[in-house]
Amino acid sequence: MGRAVKRIVYDERKIADKVKEMGAAISAAYPDGELLVLGLLKGSFIFLSDLVRQISRPLQVDFLVAASYGDNTYSSGNVRLLYDPETKLEGKHILLVEDIVDTGRTLSRLMELLSERRPRSLEICALLHKHIAKDLKHPVKFTGFDAPNEFLVGYGLDHAENFRHIPYIASLQ
Ligand code: PRP
Repeated sequence: MGRAVKRIVYDERKIADKVKEMGAAISAAYPDGELLVLGLLKGSFIFLSDLVRQISRPLQVDFLVAASYGDNTYSSGNVRLLYDPETKLEGKHILLVEDIVDTGRTLSRLMELLSERRPRSLEICALLHKHIAKDLKHPVKFTGFDAPNEFLVGYGLDHAENFRHIPYIASLQ
């Protein structure tokens, strides 16, 4: 048997209110220019779909699938895209959407890679931020919740690919 849910950390109401707030902040932050919202799969798929429906300005959506190599041999260029966005990045405002920032390694690697595509701006939006990342060079511009340092699942987040579908965010036993 897999692990069981210990407690609900953010319920559906709380998440919906926060996503609405974030959508309004993002709408206000980009008064002009083309906006491309880039979801990092798989974890961001539910957050991204709710978030874009709360953004009241034109935008495009695309996705990234990244593979990282062993964490022990960390280097900032050490990321490979398994799925590269088909949409052009150059000259656009790019908003990279993450479900959770944990060690920050995924983002550090991706931001370097994406900045080479010469976007007009490049920012991060994360629903959850543990604030334990030591090597995150780029600050997270839009943060939903300052998350506890527990193993969190639901609303897209998994444990061994399970729990992604549950509509709230919970910690595991
Ligand atoms: C998880 C999560 C973030 C990343 C955060 O992805 O979705 O992308 O880890 O961790 P970090 O800050 O320590 O890099 P995971 O690699 O588990 O893939 P998934 O999105 O498919 O669940």
